[in-house]
Amino acid sequence: APTIEIAAHAGTCYGVQRALDMALAAAPQAGECTQVHTLGPLIHNPIVVRELAEAGVGLAENLDDAATGTVIIRAHGVVPQVIDAARTRGLNVVDATCPYVKKVHMAAERLVHEGYRVVVVGEPGHPEVEGILGHAGDDAQVVSCAADADALPLKGKVGLVVQTTQTAQNLAEVVAVITPRVQELRVINTICAATSERQQAAATLANRCDCMVVVGGKNSGNTRRLAQICADACERTYHIEEASELQAAWFTDAHHIGITAGASTPQEHIERAVERIKELCL
Ligand code: F3S
Repeated sequence: APTIEIAAHAGTCYGVQRALDMALAAAPQAGECTQVHTLGPLIHNPIVVRELAEAGVGLAENLDDAATGTVIIRAHGVVPQVIDAARTRGLNVVDATCPYVKKVHMAAERLVHEGYRVVVVGEPGHPEVEGILGHAGDDAQVVSCAADADALPLKGKVGLVVQTTQTAQNLAEVVAVITPRVQELRVINTICAATSERQQAAATLANRCDCMVVVGGKNSGNTRRLAQICADACERTYHIEEASELQAAWFTDAHHIGITAGASTPQEHIERAVERIKELCL
């Protein structure tokens, strides 16, 4: 039978696991008729969203959908007005914003307070970026790359904060473009290591394997990126959402099978995939 190896860093990061644990702890107990909702899908993983629903934690797209009971703020965070509005409506708020995302919020607030115009390096429209903008002052801007930064009319004192999942390389490119154009540039590097650790571990493992399985939501950006990195190093790469999708034919003649998973994939899902591959390779 082939050997199976899990990447050194794979599956839920600290912030997502914490949000999941908080959501399950807030789930209604048997016989209790309180309503519990997450504001938006807690993570980009349809199976987890279904499992939460089974535990009594529903999904609300906005505050109007969650009229009573508890709302859970996801790890990405939100603009402060959302938390205020929820409390004003008498909802119980469980704030599962990742502490590392909170640090970005605080860094942006500090920059505004010290007179800097804030630029957020990140993906425009992404919920985490929207949440950061809510803490970054009225004239804050988002840039996704150096070309965006080049197009911005900037001068004076500029402060950069960064979406946690950005790459160091992209940040460096943006900094290089802005630096010569402003009086002062202050950079608060708020990149979280979880993403690059998973990517590096996936590349290292994929190089040693003749077959790679990537577990995670098809709608999860970071899982798709992992699948791409694995496919670049290992032709037989398969991206699955759940163990039932695995097929015996994928593992024909494989000696060493690697597994990785996005930051939104719970450890149990990785274990289920390992068990299923063992069954298929018997
Ligand atoms: Fe938090 Fe980093 Fe995960 S910012 S949500 S631990 S990717």
